[in-house]
Amino acid sequence: MSSIDSVHGVALSAGRGPEVRRSAITDGHFVVRPPRPGAKLAAMKLKDQVAIVTGAASGIGAASARLFAAEGAKLVLVDQDTAGLGQVAADIEAKGGRALTIPADVSSDQQAREGVAGVLEKWGRIDVLLTAAGASTGGTVDTIEEGAWDRTFAINVKGTYLWIHYAIQPMIAAKSGAIVTIGSQLAQSSPGKNAAYIASKGAIASLTKTMAVDHAAQGIRVNALMPGVIDTPMPAKSLKRYADPDAMRAFWKLRHPMGRIGQPEEVAKAALFLACDDSSFVTGTLLFVDGGWTAH
Ligand SMILES: NC(=O)c1ccc[n+]([C@@H]2O[C@H](COP(=O)([O-])OP(=O)(O)OC[C@H]3O[C@@H](n4cnc5c(N)ncnc54)[C@H](O)[C@@H]3O)[C@@H](O)[C@H]2O)c1
Repeated sequence: MSSIDSVHGVALSAGRGPEVRRSAITDGHFVVRPPRPGAKLAAMKLKDQVAIVTGAASGIGAASARLFAAEGAKLVLVDQDTAGLGQVAADIEAKGGRALTIPADVSSDQQAREGVAGVLEKWGRIDVLLTAAGASTGGTVDTIEEGAWDRTFAINVKGTYLWIHYAIQPMIAAKSGAIVTIGSQLAQSSPGKNAAYIASKGAIASLTKTMAVDHAAQGIRVNALMPGVIDTPMPAKSLKRYADPDAMRAFWKLRHPMGRIGQPEEVAKAALFLACDDSSFVTGTLLFVDGGWTAH
């Protein structure tokens, strides 16, 4: 396979094998043939790649991990929710995929270092990292206490930094890799009352851009997803902070010009785009998957 045929080990010939082909007998008829052996595998976007997903036990991380596995990746699932990790790993393995679970607090340097070392020991490479672990605390700057502020930044910003800090080392050595972080549409357009979380998401957006510049020459792309309100446990928990949760949920829906909140699978499809070679000339981008929230 030439270097043009393969980037990050993904066969670019995917999809060239139509199942409907002109008959070998030149009688002008088309025949439907069964798929060639391996044709399905050749079309996978992350075939044989090793993908780490933090926050993989729930929501956007879980949906992305399932999609990456369906696209041929070997998954490393990181989360502090061990029951959720086990469920996602079982789902992936039931469909013939491979998954390694790493129960960890993403804000721990030791656990990030040991987790990445364990991945390299098992699979010897890291091609994709999606940092989806996150937490939202709520509050305004006059009420947020120091501990809540620090915890929000420890999970969202430090956790993102730590997993990238360790996982990018083998990517630098391989001169290849795709890193996807998760910010939020709120970093650009906020209805308020979530100051620490929104500040942390702005930090992730800025960090993503500067990492993209720093590591472009090393063959590593770094991009951020900026979701709108997505139907996961995180906003469901946030709703409990409001006096009238139903009114707030209705506001969230209408605040998106598309008139609804998003589904984790819709963000997962954007994560796959940024993780695979479909986005081979995309780096430093903040990709809003927000139903138009930030468009007005
Ligand atoms: N759902 C939304 O509306 C929305 C919108 C914009 C951005 N985001 C971001 O998307 C990402 C995923 O969120 P989600 O909506 O899927 O939420 P979620 O609550 O379903 O998933 C978050 C996951 O992160 C894990 N996690 C939290 N703290 C951790 C820690 N210290 N160590 C390890 N794991 C930890 C949780 O256990 C959970 O499995 C987050 O970064 C979030 O800020 C979500």
